[in-house]
Order: sequence, then structure tokens, then C-alpha cells
Amino acid sequence: MLGCGGGRRAAVTCLLELRGVDKTFFTDRGPVHAVRQMSMTIEAGEVVGLVGESGSGKSTVANLVLGLEQPDAGRIRFRGRDIGDWLAAESGAYRQAVQAVFQHPFQALDRRKRVGWLVAEPLVIHRRGSSRQRAERVEELMADVNLDPSLVDRYPHQLSGGQAQRVNIARALALEPSLLVCDEPVSALDVSVQAQILNLLLEIGRKRAMAMLFISHSLPVVRHLSDRTVVMYAGIAVEQGPGGEVSDRPAHPYTQLLISAASMTGDDPGTGRRAMQEAVPPQGCRFAPRCPMVIDRCAAEEPGLEELYEGRSSRCWRSHEFLDI
Ligand SMILES: Nc1ncnc2c1ncn2[C@@H]1O[C@H](COP(=O)(O)OP(=O)(O)OP(=O)(O)O)[C@@H](O)[C@H]1O
Ligand SMILES: [Mg+2]
Repeated sequence: MLGCGGGRRAAVTCLLELRGVDKTFFTDRGPVHAVRQMSMTIEAGEVVGLVGESGSGKSTVANLVLGLEQPDAGRIRFRGRDIGDWLAAESGAYRQAVQAVFQHPFQALDRRKRVGWLVAEPLVIHRRGSSRQRAERVEELMADVNLDPSLVDRYPHQLSGGQAQRVNIARALALEPSLLVCDEPVSALDVSVQAQILNLLLEIGRKRAMAMLFISHSLPVVRHLSDRTVVMYAGIAVEQGPGGEVSDRPAHPYTQLLISAASMTGDDPGTGRRAMQEAVPPQGCRFAPRCPMVIDRCAAEEPGLEELYEGRSSRCWRSHEFLDI
């Protein structure tokens, strides 16, 4: 099991910890186990990439961390304290410390407000500074996200998708969060601006030593950005480890599939809500029906999360064999 302080960095602070988190949605078509037995950590300043195909539960994890959904079981702690307690006792402090950037850049922006107002809004809500100090801060924030100062009087509909997402990033940074949750922040943008926004996030995260939970369906993108990668399949974290190692020496056949899909299409490992729809053996591994490396044991017994070596874990009976350890 991965724990804070493990891996490559010693003596670091555990910022976020999920332990055995479950979340089920009850729908007309029956229960959907969106997240099962999820355990992961994010250390201060660390960028953790969460990757998996559509429907694997990535946004549900984000929403749980943001307190927009409550777990059915397990614990989510931020700075050692349950986030339910944070939200009950000091919701303002939690909302300030944990910010988010979502997929659709225009959705979060009030169409009737100008860019300057939108970037200042978090400062107003949290009563930061005088109006003059806020105006200065808006200028700084716009410069931080490479937005031309002349855009300050524009309305959202006068912005490109990339500019609108920069406004969202500026808003998210206004209160200097310690954790930024980015849920597919570039998937709705033109391909030509995706890399610019990704590199901006990377640069901002490093400069501010801000931790990030970076969600994407693309393993190459996550590899580029993350210190550590968590691979999700059908609600389960099937593999975790240092970003490069997970991509270069996958310990789980699902990660291998993401890699080969990415190399065939140039990037996208495939969409469609396949992960939740496969016939799952009642007691076995959820990935068994799609797994090219399946053995008899996979249908009979579900593998637990096993630490393979420090900082590296997976849920597959054959991981030792794949890594030759
Ligand atoms: N509020 C909800 N009510 C019912 N089912 C939900 C809800 N939110 C998510 N789900 C279901 O939970 C599963 C996981 O969804 P989630 O949105 O977390 O996946 P995802 O990995 O973010 O997918 P995508 O890449 O498409 O964004 C899906 O089957 C989804 O339909
Ligand atoms: Mg999602």
C-alpha cells in the first residue's frame, strides 16, 4: 500500500489521503459501483495523474475530493483531517485550499460578467484585500496564466476556449490553493492549444509547489505531467507508481492496453463506457473479460492491491511476472 512519505521523496507532508473509498450510484438500471476500494495519497507539491477510460470513475474521485459527493465507505483526509469534518467546521478554509478546473471552460463562467470581475470573484467571496489590492492581484493572476491585460473587460463569449480556460485557472489560483483538482482540463479545447494549457499548469504547479490531482484519459499526457500515476479501471485503482515507470514498465495488463491503444491512435486510449459494461465474473478480477493475459485464477479470485516495491503497487496476479521481480 502506498503511504505518504513513501516513494522517491522522503520527509514530505501528506496532503490528501483516500483509504478504502467506495461510491455507488443507484440508477434506474441498477447500482453503479463508480469507485471501489480506492486508496491513494497526494503529497504536498506532488502532481498525481489519474488515468482511465470513460466511465472508470475518475470524475467521481474528483467530486469526492472536492466534497461534491460523499463516500459510502472509507475515509478521505486532507492534512490528516476527514474532509467531512473540514466541510462541517471550516468549509471556507477547505474551499480555499482545494480548488478545481473542469473540462468545459465556459460552464463555470457567468456569461454576464467581465473577465476582471470573474478573476476577482474568489477574492471578493473570501474577503481578500481592498478593491485596489484586488485589482492589482487580478493583474498578477492574468499575467501568471498568460492572459493579455486587454482582455480584462471582455465577456466570456468574446474569449476563445483556451482563453476561457486560462480565466478558470486564474480564478482557481486566486486563493493560492495547496491542491488543484484538474478534471480533463484540456479535452474540450482545440488540439492546438491543449499543450499550451498543459504546460501552463505544469509550470504553475512547480513554481507554486502546489499539488495537483490531474485527471485524463490519456496516459502519455499523464506521463508528461505527473510525478506519480494512478491507473483506474471500472472504479478500481489497478496500478500506481512513479509516472515514467508506470508507462515504461506497466505492472497491469490494463495499463499495457492503454499504452498500445495510445501508440496506435497517437494518443487516445479509447472512449465509450466499456469499463462498466463488461460481464464481470462474480468473484474475479473486473478486467478479466478483456484481459489478454488472463489465467484461471483471475476468474475465481479478485486480486487485492499489492505493494510490488516501494512506491509501486498493482492489482494483478501476474504483476511480478510482468516486471520480472
Ligand atoms: N451522479 C451520478 N449518478 C449516477 N451515475 C453516475 C453519477 N456520476 C457518475 N455515474 C456513473 O459512475 C461511473 C463513473 O463515472 P465517472 O464520471 O466518474 O467516470 P469518468 O472516468 O470520469 O468518465 P469520463 O472519462 O467519461 O469523464 C459511470 O458509469 C457513470 O455513469
Ligand atoms: Mg469524467
